[in-house]
Amino acid sequence: MEIRPTTEQDRELFVDTMHAAFGRFPDAPADGGGGWWSAFEMDRNLFAVAADGRPVGTAGAYSFELTLPGEVLLPVSGVTAVGVLPSHRRQGVLSAMMRHQLADLRARGEVLSVLLASEALIYRRFGYGPATYTQRLTVPRHRAAFALPRARGTAGTPATGSVEVLRRAECNELLEQVYDRYRRAQPGALSRPHRWWAAGAGQPPIAPAPRYVAVHRDADGVPDGYASYSIGESETLTVDEAIAADDTVLTALARFVLGHDLVSQVVFKHVPPEHPLRWQLEDFRAGQAGGDTDWLWVRLLDVPQALTARGWCTDGELVLDVDDPFLGEHGRHLLTVRDGKADCVPTDREPDLSLDISDLGSVYLGGTAPSTLVRAGHVKAHHPGAAALADALFRAERPPHCLHWF
Ligand SMILES: CC(C)(COP(=O)(O)OP(=O)(O)OC[C@H]1O[C@@H](n2cnc3c(N)ncnc32)[C@H](O)[C@@H]1OP(=O)(O)O)[C@@H](O)C(=O)NCCC(=O)NCCS
Repeated sequence: MEIRPTTEQDRELFVDTMHAAFGRFPDAPADGGGGWWSAFEMDRNLFAVAADGRPVGTAGAYSFELTLPGEVLLPVSGVTAVGVLPSHRRQGVLSAMMRHQLADLRARGEVLSVLLASEALIYRRFGYGPATYTQRLTVPRHRAAFALPRARGTAGTPATGSVEVLRRAECNELLEQVYDRYRRAQPGALSRPHRWWAAGAGQPPIAPAPRYVAVHRDADGVPDGYASYSIGESETLTVDEAIAADDTVLTALARFVLGHDLVSQVVFKHVPPEHPLRWQLEDFRAGQAGGDTDWLWVRLLDVPQALTARGWCTDGELVLDVDDPFLGEHGRHLLTVRDGKADCVPTDREPDLSLDISDLGSVYLGGTAPSTLVRAGHVKAHHPGAAALADALFRAERPPHCLHWF
């Protein structure tokens, strides 16, 4: 079996092979826009080819920017379209593609790779760890009264601005601008390439089916947030995405959708852990969280570069002993944080923590506390204060969140 890069000429065969691996057929997109696969970067994709010349496996990558804690933007690869034909599974095809791909990403100078996992058992062996989490929040409308904010002049205070309802097809450019502003400030968020918006490429942006979009504008008329939604069965209003650069605007959008007539409940499909909405409702139990799941998985390709790239909220020093079994690598790193910036150098000092590269991926964006992984028995803390020190260091200014499907 050979792993080879694809070219533009391979697009159709790549799309067919990938669909066959998932047991699906490539449907024509309902809205006349591009299928999500029209966004593939064919010069970044791989075929696994059998001895008879037929492709039996696919793996792709997009070029994204990932927002790190400290509002740092890092170019990363977003691994996608991973599939092996049912007839060729459990023979090492994916392992061979992953090995090839990781080497390829490093050769491109990338220090980090991300993906969404169809099954949680697949990717840890390749060094990926779950790093952001998302959940659904369901609010029955009759219990959706907002509490009076206990602190004045904060997010709970009504925003000065307006909300206008548009159809998704009418406001692509506007959504692109608002999304871009939002994702630059949100750790864990990914850029959406312009051509995705331009092509209406399948799932991103938002969803292929028609949507109404509540666009919030500030007092000067500048769009600063949106909620895309549809009303379906059982008088349920489902919000695909509600994003804003600012919590006050997010609150205004939540009030707007919760104020809809002929709606009995509102489902926010993607909210980050520690979302403020539950706290803003007078009835704390009105917001029912469910569907808690991992979202973005992170794989560090260069530990020192990745650790020095992100911003840090607390000063401190930590020695990390990191094992990378898939790539057969091991490193001991002294991480020193001063004034929000880190230095990371090799060391032979005694470690504070010993951990696997996938666990470092999990804690990297601040969405998983190192102490949780110590308690789970995956990370070894070499002295009693090590886990608390690591928790304080890795914590981000706000929990990382990603609502981007790719
Ligand atoms: C997931 C998939 C790509 C795996 O491909 P594969 O070629 O069978 O994987 P490999 O043979 O390289 O497996 C490597 C190891 O991972 C394990 N593994 C692979 N897929 C697994 C799965 N879905 N669940 C549990 N373990 C899995 C294998 O058992 C093997 O373990 P071992 O080294 O201990 O023997 C393939 O099953 C597939 O195409 N599934 C449907 C599409 C899909 O889910 N794609 C992923 C999208 S994110």
